[in-house]
Amino acid sequence: MSSDVTKSLEQVYTPYPYHPGHSITLRDSNGNEFSVDIIHEYSFTISPAVVVNLHEDGAIREAVLKLYDRRFGELRKRREPDGRRRPQPHTEESEAAFQDFARSGMLGPVLDRLRHADLMWDLYRQVCTPPDEEDEEMKPERERLAEEEAEFYYKIQKRYTREVRAYGKLKCLQGRGIPRFFTAVTLQMPSAPPDLELHYFQVPGILIEKINGFNLSNLVTEMPAGPPDLWAEIVQKATDLAVEINRAGVLDGDSQPRNALVTRREDNTHQVCRIDFGEASLESDLKFRREDEPDYFKQCAATSSNPDALGLVMAAKVKRLTGVELDIVFDEIFPGIDGLP
Ligand SMILES: Nc1ncnc2c1ncn2[C@@H]1O[C@H](COP(=O)(O)OP(=O)(O)O)[C@@H](O)[C@H]1O
Ligand SMILES: [Mg+2]
Repeated sequence: MSSDVTKSLEQVYTPYPYHPGHSITLRDSNGNEFSVDIIHEYSFTISPAVVVNLHEDGAIREAVLKLYDRRFGELRKRREPDGRRRPQPHTEESEAAFQDFARSGMLGPVLDRLRHADLMWDLYRQVCTPPDEEDEEMKPERERLAEEEAEFYYKIQKRYTREVRAYGKLKCLQGRGIPRFFTAVTLQMPSAPPDLELHYFQVPGILIEKINGFNLSNLVTEMPAGPPDLWAEIVQKATDLAVEINRAGVLDGDSQPRNALVTRREDNTHQVCRIDFGEASLESDLKFRREDEPDYFKQCAATSSNPDALGLVMAAKVKRLTGVELDIVFDEIFPGIDGLP
């Protein structure tokens, strides 16, 4: 009876902590600790994003805090025997399994396997054989939980690294086409065990400029009166921005209207800003994959069609909702360079 009670308590989902009204302590890249107050939370897919008040020299400044927390978000899925992927919430039990895994020295090899699978994909576009489903099901639940937790840790760290690098590479666009990047931060998870490496229990994050505006995918509902020329102007800006991002050496794995924000400026013009670079690759990553092919990045950019994923998708949406056809111009990203053969 008592063990049943313990088990059910261990399986209670970890409560989501990033709500308005909470204060959290962050550490910046220089090791300085400071507190921020959460004043607003956005709906998110993978990374919790909240608006925080920063206290600086007696003044208060708003910023967006985006966190890469393996305990929450849509990365956490388990593939079921019927092929569906179901949410796999973080619990005390999954955390304990992860910690035991780290203690027993089994975490390192699992992380190495995940890194190797990525490398094989990068170098040869070769998908490593995923673990056999039946084998997976035969595994003790505790081991499955531990391996999954290791995978969530790996994937969320990767997204963080990619986003920070993209902000660095796109410095020239900060404050114009993407938010200004203030600092990278870390947040301590509660009760990190003293005998294990700290970084497994740290939530990395970024503090970036808050963009006041609406999501590009809501263009018609936010501006129902248009006029259509204005819709076209805004979608054209989003499309041109995607070209600029590619030309600055960043390929975006998540180019979509939901990741673009539209701001109305005081002079009544509109600005488009791109956010969310958790799936971005840099030119240098791709060059390393194909040293013999000098135009490889440019070919990848042409194949990936980041501008189409904004311009064509929004033109189709506007047509579906209003019947209006937008006339969007798609510049060649790198003139004379075709997609991958
Ligand atoms: N700099 C920002 N300014 C305003 N809103 C933002 C900003 N960054 C993120 N958001 C909001 O938070 C949501 C989630 O952020 P995003 O970076 O897209 O993460 P993910 O898609 O991984 O959950 C966005 O859809 C947007 O509504
Ligand atoms: Mg997003």
